[in-house]
Amino acid sequence: MKPVIVAEHAPFLGTLAQEAFAQASGGQAALKIVAMPSSLDEVPSLMQATKAEVVILALDLEGDPIAMAKFITHTYPRTLLFAVAAPDTHPDQLRYARAQGFRDVLIRPLSLAAIQQAIEKAEMEDRQPKAAASYGAYTLPPTPSTIKSRMIAVYSPKGGVGKTAVATNLALAYANNPTVKLSVCLVDLDLSWGDVATVLGLPASIPTILDWIPQVDRFQGPVPPEKVQDLVVHTGFNVDVVAAPFSPGDHLRFQENGQEDQRVRWILESLKRDYDVVIIDLEQQLRDSTIVAIEMAHRTLVVSTPDIQSLKAIYRTVSKLREAHVDVSRMRLVLNRMGRGSDLPFADAAAMADQMALPVMAQLPEDPQMQLSINLGEPIVHRMQKGPFVTALRQLAHAEIPVFGRDRKRAPLPVTPPVPAAKEETKPFLRRLFRNR
Ligand SMILES: Nc1ncnc2c1ncn2[C@@H]1O[C@H](COP(=O)(O)OP(=O)(O)OP(=O)(O)O)[C@@H](O)[C@H]1O
Ligand SMILES: [Mg+2]
Repeated sequence: MKPVIVAEHAPFLGTLAQEAFAQASGGQAALKIVAMPSSLDEVPSLMQATKAEVVILALDLEGDPIAMAKFITHTYPRTLLFAVAAPDTHPDQLRYARAQGFRDVLIRPLSLAAIQQAIEKAEMEDRQPKAAASYGAYTLPPTPSTIKSRMIAVYSPKGGVGKTAVATNLALAYANNPTVKLSVCLVDLDLSWGDVATVLGLPASIPTILDWIPQVDRFQGPVPPEKVQDLVVHTGFNVDVVAAPFSPGDHLRFQENGQEDQRVRWILESLKRDYDVVIIDLEQQLRDSTIVAIEMAHRTLVVSTPDIQSLKAIYRTVSKLREAHVDVSRMRLVLNRMGRGSDLPFADAAAMADQMALPVMAQLPEDPQMQLSINLGEPIVHRMQKGPFVTALRQLAHAEIPVFGRDRKRAPLPVTPPVPAAKEETKPFLRRLFRNR
């Protein structure tokens, strides 16, 4: 029988206490409530005394349940940790709790059956081989040999065209696809103004990419997997996040006593090793970190709105990259906010793309629901099953990694293609660009 500790306000323990009493006097069950403290302070000593395998903490107990959750996940990583909350708890709070290490949030009043069910669900998730998943009438091939470590960067030299919208929704689409379980990490590499955390409704107290700096410096290379799990933020959207710094000037810390490109390379290598899919939201400046990501990515989606300024900015940037011998062959154009009325028609935009030898991979329509989703902190693919943007975004995701749809005849998932090593890996971008001058 699994020993369980429930830290909850005494008045809410009526049902559970009765059930636990009935169980103690003869019932059979897979779990055993060994302690019901009503204060957080007692939890650590009780854990040690009872060897609890499951701990449930009420989110509104006096003190800091989140700090206690972090302590437990750090000190007893094998413990299954759940939160319990009132039925009217705000969804942001529930999401935040999940992001901080709680496996799930149970809603009051607690019962043995609900706890048992949550444990079974968590154990099933842990047991489920990431490698294979069956859906409908066919079984997909195992993940590691197929899609493992696919890295997709999302870039635009122009601001405000929808990079973050595409990157975030793509990450969620892969993480919650109907056919194969994929671990997905979304990296906000917009080091100056990144807002992935805002778009996902995450609070300002989360770890950011700045927390990686001492770690990659210490290991002088990728960070070990167990450390990675402390440095990413687990969100309630099935996507882990590496958030950008919250203060714009903080990105300069990447350049202190070391090279920005090397540090970013090590961070991305750590994530590439540990996740099936890594999505990177890039900033518009062609800084060293941007170039490293483009060179490491299997695909770079270059987002543009269908207007002359945005497309010309891409034209100039792609030319610059070619001049600096950056491989742009894996870049594809994504036209976003199509159909607003006054913009270039698709044929003209496609003709410009042709001129710069940048194949068009997708057209994503203007969707009035987009801004509302951003304001709600819930990306549109999570909030809605259908809609013009959601449908087109899923098609784009499927074109890159075929995980949507039920076509039985389709070929197995493609093996992730190797990315050729960057030719002048160690030379920062600007030096490469001006090397002959
Ligand atoms: N397909 C779309 N339909 C409607 N609105 C959209 C669409 N794509 C993006 N937007 C809107 O455009 C704005 C900018 O989007 P987003 O923040 O994703 O751009 P960005 O390129 O990441 O900007 P930044 O350069 O600031 O990082 C947002 O307000 C978003 O609501
Ligand atoms: Mg952005």
